[in-house]
Amino acid sequence: MQEKLKQIREDAIAKINEAKELDKLNDIRVAFLGKKGELTAIMKSMKDLSPEQRPAFGQMVNQTRTEIENALDAMKTSLARKARALQLKSEVIDVTLPAKKNNVGHRHPNSIALEEMERIFVGLGYEVVEGPEVEKDYYNFEALNIPKDHPARDEQDTFYINANMLLRSQTSGAQIHTMENGTLPIKVISPGRVYRADEVDATHSPCFHQVEGLVVGKNITFADLKGTLAEFAREMFGTQTKVKFRPHHFPFTEPSAEMDVTCFKCGGKGCRMCKGSGWIEILGCGMVHPHVLEMSGIDPEEYSGFAFGVGLERIALLKYEIDDMRLMYENDIRFLKQF
Ligand code: DAH
Repeated sequence: MQEKLKQIREDAIAKINEAKELDKLNDIRVAFLGKKGELTAIMKSMKDLSPEQRPAFGQMVNQTRTEIENALDAMKTSLARKARALQLKSEVIDVTLPAKKNNVGHRHPNSIALEEMERIFVGLGYEVVEGPEVEKDYYNFEALNIPKDHPARDEQDTFYINANMLLRSQTSGAQIHTMENGTLPIKVISPGRVYRADEVDATHSPCFHQVEGLVVGKNITFADLKGTLAEFAREMFGTQTKVKFRPHHFPFTEPSAEMDVTCFKCGGKGCRMCKGSGWIEILGCGMVHPHVLEMSGIDPEEYSGFAFGVGLERIALLKYEIDDMRLMYENDIRFLKQF
């Protein structure tokens, strides 16, 4: 019996040492220590021994059981450790590998130019307001001194929705909304999209952006207009920038002018950018027409004002030396990244 016990122990230890998986260990545990296992069987045969022999033999069986259990536990720990090491090895991450570059978006030159304009005018005490893109004929034309049969309507090929509604062809309607609000004095700029039925080419788009400006108060003169817009030009294009006002005509201002700035590329000597003239046209402006003030409920005897309108794309194209407006609408990240 002792021999048999010894044999069982050796068998068990040998099998445990050969085991390569945790499942296998469990089978071994069942085969030797389980209810129907070999050790349990030998315990049962103890009844054949004399009562004197039993305690010693029982002790030996218990010791064998402990040894097998210890061997099982040791092997279990060892196999688990190996499995863990293998898993770690297969899941290893090389943190020194260069990271994949994410293509993040980029601010549009229009947005950059607009933020710059807003910064300048807010610095001069202006408020930024917005007008509607779908507009009444009245605000886009009529209240700006452009009645139904006025030839100025032909200059802006307008998208009409019906006889009274249209997609605004200029931001100037925001002037009327602001004046109708009734708070005086007024110092606002109003940026936004405008629409015209134009063919797409290097300098035209059916949808582009303008920034409107309006100042109304007591004793506002053309000198205020000149000083303000000259300051804007210096901040936008550099301190050495000079401005020039050429007489022009807009129905809603009297007198009206267009403002040119000295070419910031050549400094006024003449280059490709300014087409040799040394000057670049930037915006339209003028003193708000008394009739326009009157129509919006402001007494032109008491109040006066000036207004201006800037093409935002034009500013961005000039400032960033972009030679084709179509690039502004394609949103190619390689293009946008340059600004
Ligand atoms: N609305 C004019 C245009 O689209 C631009 C303009 C000119 C706006 C003179 C003004 C202004 O406010 O005073 O061509």
